[in-house]
Amino acid sequence: MRIILLGAPGAGKGTQAQFIMNTYKIPQISTGDMLRAAIKAGTELGKKAKQVMDAGQLVSDDIMIGLVKERVALDDCKNGFLLDGFPRTIPQADAMQEAGIDVDFVLEFDVADDVIVQRMAGRRVHPGSGRVYHVEYNPPQVEGKDDVTGEDLLVRDDDKEETVRKRLAIYHEQTEPLVSYYQKLAEQGTVKFHSLDGTQKVEAIHQQLSELLG
Ligand code: AP5
Ligand code: ZN
Repeated sequence: MRIILLGAPGAGKGTQAQFIMNTYKIPQISTGDMLRAAIKAGTELGKKAKQVMDAGQLVSDDIMIGLVKERVALDDCKNGFLLDGFPRTIPQADAMQEAGIDVDFVLEFDVADDVIVQRMAGRRVHPGSGRVYHVEYNPPQVEGKDDVTGEDLLVRDDDKEETVRKRLAIYHEQTEPLVSYYQKLAEQGTVKFHSLDGTQKVEAIHQQLSELLG
């Protein structure tokens, strides 16, 4: 199964990706997590990406397209994959089509901007695994610690309110057009497109995903 998760920053892509990955045994390809790992490792890519990400802007299409093409060609993607955070612009989606990287499902999580700003203020992440928590809505078993490894949880550098607002503006301008892009492909029968109410409880969304994906 090949899936794209679409949605604004903080819409819950990473949260639901953990559920889909564990349920359907397909790897999560989070371009944001890949970039954060590159920053941590101090690679050339990481050095380029850090400033851009901290400013809430998008890394260039060329870099992102190259990164994803390489990643989906790896062995663990042969039975499917889950794209979280890619494509994020029309050129990225076109590049996927041109490369013949087809998908079965495009799932969009719809959440209003003000709800997102609130969510980001309480987000905590486990960088090693990509697991995501919220101090109130999805708290870890032990405060500040990852449930599986017990390691420290962190606040992301781009979760300051000012940066979140910038990321939301860029989402509306550059990523949201992908909703009608994939709706059109769905009308042609090339993909299945579903929009989900992302403000429901995390478990309610799990349930809906199970029904949609089978
Ligand atoms: P990326 O890491 O992809 O960030 P994003 O798309 O902005 O999305 P987030 O990770 O912030 O949110 P999410 O939807 O995963 O929500 P989450 O589940 O964490 O990208 C970061 C940056 O990298 C970009 O800004 C860009 O610079 C660069 N980049 C990445 N990909 C790129 C690309 N393709 N092209 C160019 N640049 C790229 O949930 C958020 C919070 O809400 C958590 O605290 C969670 O616990 C809570 N929550 C989740 N669901 C619910 C719920 N149903 N109810 C209540 N709380 C919930
Ligand atoms: Zn995420």
